[in-house]
Amino acid sequence: MLLAASWTPWIIAAAAAIVIPWLLFTEFSYFGAGSIRRVYNGMSRNYNKKWKRKEYQSKELTSRVFLEPLRKALDDSTEARVLDLACGTGRTTFLLLSEAWFQGRIHALDLSPGMLAKFRASLKKLPTEKSERVSSAEANLIGWTAKEEAAFDAVVMLEASEFIPRPAPLMTEVLRTLKPGGLFLMTKPRGWLAWMYFSRKQRAGQLRALLESTGFQNVRLTPWSPRHDVVYAWKAGVAQDGQQTNQAEAASASA
Ligand SMILES: C[S@@+](CC[C@H](N)C(=O)[O-])C[C@H]1O[C@@H](n2cnc3c(N)ncnc32)[C@H](O)[C@@H]1O
Repeated sequence: MLLAASWTPWIIAAAAAIVIPWLLFTEFSYFGAGSIRRVYNGMSRNYNKKWKRKEYQSKELTSRVFLEPLRKALDDSTEARVLDLACGTGRTTFLLLSEAWFQGRIHALDLSPGMLAKFRASLKKLPTEKSERVSSAEANLIGWTAKEEAAFDAVVMLEASEFIPRPAPLMTEVLRTLKPGGLFLMTKPRGWLAWMYFSRKQRAGQLRALLESTGFQNVRLTPWSPRHDVVYAWKAGVAQDGQQTNQAEAASASA
């Protein structure tokens, strides 16, 4: 009894040494959406500094991993529409707006009013010709219902899938809101970050199976940063003869 009591502080200290770093690395997201909102409201002021990290600086990688697939999905039409899910302070939105070929419109959603405020402040610094092509709103992707069906050519969701405990309903909504032949481009945690979110079925095989069972086609993964892979998944398209086609196959055939 005495022995057990003398070990108790050590057991508590050991548990804290594991649990506290885990809570920090997972950004307290296991406490739910309210907690994530608070964390990102707090981080919003300095969040853009993250983009300056070396791992995000390769233009070649950004072009290959993001811009080329998006360009294939969007072309240079003014009708092109992109949905930026968990947009944060707008990394994907601003990347697209910086491309001369991108003439379309973007709708951006995020849980955190702080991140959205930063996003909108950055948007105000752009010429009106660009900023007026962007709309944004606060939304929780857990339990989210897309307002429009078959409306977007591409849906992007960067560095956010780890915050969605049960992603199946979200995938269904993404598929529904994509136009036929549209691209869903998301990231998934890799390596130690994937282990941190051990309960969230973020392994490649699990995610691929989930996307395919939702109805996506040609699911493909590619490494991006030390902590994330990029995942591409396509909604089946409809050819002029009414046959179902696959956009990814068409895109790779024309490349
Ligand atoms: C790591 S940041 C990524 C932001 C942006 N996509 C980027 O690449 O810079 C994660 C973002 O996901 C948002 N987020 C987390 N859980 C969310 C949820 N359930 N619904 C909507 N947004 C969420 C956070 O508010 C935060 O802005």
